[in-house]
Amino acid sequence: MTTVAVVGGQWGDEGKGKVVDLLSEDAAHVVRCQGGANAGHTIVIGAREFKLHLVPTGILHPDVQCYLGAGVVLDMEALLTELRDLQAVGIQSEGRFWISPYTHVVMPYHKEQDARQEQRRGRTALGTTSRGIGPCYADKAHRTGFRFADVLDTAFFREQVGDTLSSDAVDSLIQHAEQLRPHLGDVEERLFLARQRGERIVFEGAQGVLLDSTFGTYPYVTSSHTCAAGVCQGAGLGPSSIDETLLVLKAYCTRVGHGPFPTEDNSIFAEDCASIREVGTTTGRTRRLGWFDAVLGRWSVQLNGADAIVLTKLDILDTLEIIKICVGYTVNGEERVRPPVTQSEWESATPTYEEWPGWQLPTVGITDPAQLPEAALAYIQRIAELCGAPVFIVSVGPARDQTLTLRPQVQEAT
Ligand code: GDP
Ligand code: IMO
Ligand code: MG
Repeated sequence: MTTVAVVGGQWGDEGKGKVVDLLSEDAAHVVRCQGGANAGHTIVIGAREFKLHLVPTGILHPDVQCYLGAGVVLDMEALLTELRDLQAVGIQSEGRFWISPYTHVVMPYHKEQDARQEQRRGRTALGTTSRGIGPCYADKAHRTGFRFADVLDTAFFREQVGDTLSSDAVDSLIQHAEQLRPHLGDVEERLFLARQRGERIVFEGAQGVLLDSTFGTYPYVTSSHTCAAGVCQGAGLGPSSIDETLLVLKAYCTRVGHGPFPTEDNSIFAEDCASIREVGTTTGRTRRLGWFDAVLGRWSVQLNGADAIVLTKLDILDTLEIIKICVGYTVNGEERVRPPVTQSEWESATPTYEEWPGWQLPTVGITDPAQLPEAALAYIQRIAELCGAPVFIVSVGPARDQTLTLRPQVQEAT
């Protein structure tokens, strides 16, 4: 399998960064295809911790080439800060980090619009990351946006942007674009040729399926296509370019921002959110917590054509006596095994749970699947069965080596 898409299967923050970091070990290229600085991927390497927003996780591997594909929205200032922070800790991006000329640029007024729209919504605010993501994608669709190449075409940009921005703001945008010019690359051609040569490409998803602008919990979604199908459009490659799709699912559910969350239960864990790493990487907000939702897990597997699941944060369940899995909903008195569509249906959806015995043993440190407690293996297998895809990898801690590969065992069981 030379190319692999890693996509989030819930509301984001499933641990995609950790998974992409692992897969980057034997990759030649890592590509972000959608989203922007709203993403926050935390990667733990030994005693060091990296928080990436726009730069692909592959940057942490010196021999990997990294790309921002055309589907990404580019906050130039945020990117420059991130690149500088990486450089300060010895991670170089020169000659190995490329930005597609087609990426749309997040303008200062996009962030202002984001804030204003949220304020106007009041009680029904989406809880965005305030990074100007929605307004930037909206301008793209309205055909009033500016791409990276357009900002670099300075005379054109000055003329087009007119007096929408102060001349200082325009100067500052042009200056940022010039600083990033060395990273302007023919991303589409580079990836096309890499694919032809059979080199390993990892597509790094951002956000998650339930935040997809079409299939997520609309309107409480982000503004990009977060499913595997969005990878091709965002990278400029054809649909046959993905050899394997891995769906990252957390062993329970979390959500930041507002919107439906049928299995929400913020009293599941005795630990506070910080100690279980459930504080938003981008906004510092505490994440909402809930039980694993297999209705939505199955929906995610289906929407992505997922070949397999990567199940993360199993260790967080280690101390629980009983673990619940949502296997259906009652919506307006009717039993359902498919996700609701309308907001009123979502609001009325009451989960039907299966209860599984907890293992109450530490899984952190286990690297051999044979040493997993039986109850933990049963839980993993039940998730595979309910979601309709095998679990290939299980993560039991934030670090690289806190990972188990299950391919054969669980494949046989499903
Ligand atoms: P992403 O946006 O999908 O990359 O996920 P985030 O990085 O925003 O959030 C996941 C958090 O959980 C990060 O702090 C990770 O370091 C951490 N993490 C990832 N996998 C595991 C795991 O298996 N166990 C534990 N305890 N933490 C994990
Ligand atoms: P990663 O890649 C979790 C959420 C926001 C909000 C909604 C819309 O780290 O998984 P936006 O700023 O995109 O217009 O906000 O989407 N959101 C995320 N939630 N993880 C993310 O990224 C997210 N990116 C956006 O909280 O509810
Ligand atoms: Mg995140």
